[in-house]
Amino acid sequence: MELSDAVRNRRMVRAFSDRPVPAELLDDVLAQALSAPTAGNSHGVDFVVLRGARETAMFWQATTTEDWWQRNPRRAGMRSAPVVLLPVSGPPPYLARYALEDKARSGLDRLEAWPIPFWFTDAAFATMIVLLRAVDAGLGAAFVGIFRGESSLLSSLGVPDGLRPLGAVLLGYPAPHQAPSASGLLPGRRRGERIHFGSW
Ligand SMILES: Cc1cc2nc3c(=O)[nH]c(=O)nc-3n(C[C@H](O)[C@H](O)[C@H](O)COP(=O)(O)O)c2cc1C
Repeated sequence: MELSDAVRNRRMVRAFSDRPVPAELLDDVLAQALSAPTAGNSHGVDFVVLRGARETAMFWQATTTEDWWQRNPRRAGMRSAPVVLLPVSGPPPYLARYALEDKARSGLDRLEAWPIPFWFTDAAFATMIVLLRAVDAGLGAAFVGIFRGESSLLSSLGVPDGLRPLGAVLLGYPAPHQAPSASGLLPGRRRGERIHFGSW
């Protein structure tokens, strides 16, 4: 598939078939995600990969409540994703990298000095590769935020202190029917309103 087709065709997929994702394909998606640009070549993004119902249930149990599922019936298909990826990053590798001689003058060996937390920028770039490679491979994916249960999730997964998930990527083959999300029904803003040639 052409890159421009993958970009154009990408939509968040929130319901999945029970067809498993082949291990080699998952490996390829992850390998490409790890080739994303990374500030200072820090390579500070890791992925926790949850495969199959037993592992993915751990994610849903930590981050949602039964009450939430009842209030959001259109989201029911998300739980059927056979793979949940957590792009995880945080300051430690970046502070260490920017303390090295070639970057030392930046002062970015101190957390407070960072104008933008590049550990999340890197995680977002890597996540975008997952979303696009999914389309390319005939898979579907959705990025979702984590609004509760983050610390218990991280401790049950053994993630080192100081690292956080950007959110979660649900991955699998799309189910034939996709319920529209409330956000997807909004009209959005027109391109001409959002591109500011020369000045705002
Ligand atoms: C930072 C971010 C957070 C998002 N969080 C959620 C989420 O928690 N749940 C969800 O269903 N979709 C989530 N989305 C998906 C958006 O709702 C979706 O991208 C938007 O409605 C546009 O639809 P499209 O991506 O299918 O074009 C998120 C997207 C981004 C970029």
